[in-house]
Amino acid sequence: MTAATLEKPPEAADDWTVPQNWAHFTAQEHDVWDTLFARQTAMLPGRASDAFLRGLDVLKLSKPGIPDFAELSERLTAATGWRVVAVPGLVPDDVFFDHLANRTFVAGNFIRRADQLDYLQEPDVFHDVFGHVPMLADPVFADYMAAYGRGGQRAGSLGALKRLARLYWYTVEFGLVEEPEGLRIYGAGIVSSRGESVFALDDPSPNRIGFDLMRVMRTDYRIDDYQQSYFVIPSFDELLRVTVETDFAPLYEALEGQADLGVADVLDTDRVLTRGTQGYATGGV
Ligand code: PHE
Ligand code: FE
Repeated sequence: MTAATLEKPPEAADDWTVPQNWAHFTAQEHDVWDTLFARQTAMLPGRASDAFLRGLDVLKLSKPGIPDFAELSERLTAATGWRVVAVPGLVPDDVFFDHLANRTFVAGNFIRRADQLDYLQEPDVFHDVFGHVPMLADPVFADYMAAYGRGGQRAGSLGALKRLARLYWYTVEFGLVEEPEGLRIYGAGIVSSRGESVFALDDPSPNRIGFDLMRVMRTDYRIDDYQQSYFVIPSFDELLRVTVETDFAPLYEALEGQADLGVADVLDTDRVLTRGTQGYATGGV
């Protein structure tokens, strides 16, 4: 999801893809992947959703280092019909939605440097592949992502991209799910971050609020730091059901008449699991 004005690099095809050219990655770049992979997989048992942990198997490929997308896609396609292709960086919304609707996930064809393990502004191959691909191996989540792509094409024509982007943010990127054994993380932005995978579950600072479609589509988000509110779905089945069965057009229309909510707001109508202290939050609230 991204800014509107991007220019397609000359090496990219019409759909913005480029050959992954796995051989172009250096040994140091593969080491960065291995370091990040080892430290995230060590912390995720008991934190990441069952679906994510099951999906991780898809990433356990024959070669060490950054996955070869051909091999990865073979496994992913066998599981859910999805595949992974390389792009130079962020792509325009319509291109992104089109790929999703066709069960294609685009991944940045670069990796962060060894001195950027904890923070990076643009999504790199570690965020895109480690963060997103395991969930795409789950049949229900795989359907949700494809439906989201179709929903994006529609939201574009209804002038409601900002609303729908919030749904993506608070589910695909920063979602929590309530499992029988407790809250678990599944959002790619959390599971690919060492700091946030602890913060999102254990820190007293953020709110943890029951997922509600309209509530989420009214709520701003921050892209520069840990979230101040997380939204908790009861299950992936329920997320898929409510988003697929709801016609968003009247919701978008109703939202026109409602004020946006701030990142830390809590409403009387919220199902609050944790009311955050907001002790961590700095400025901008
Ligand atoms: N049902 C939504 C619509 O009417 C589409 C959608 C499905 C959006 C799943 C997000 C996720 O636009
Ligand atoms: Fe992402």
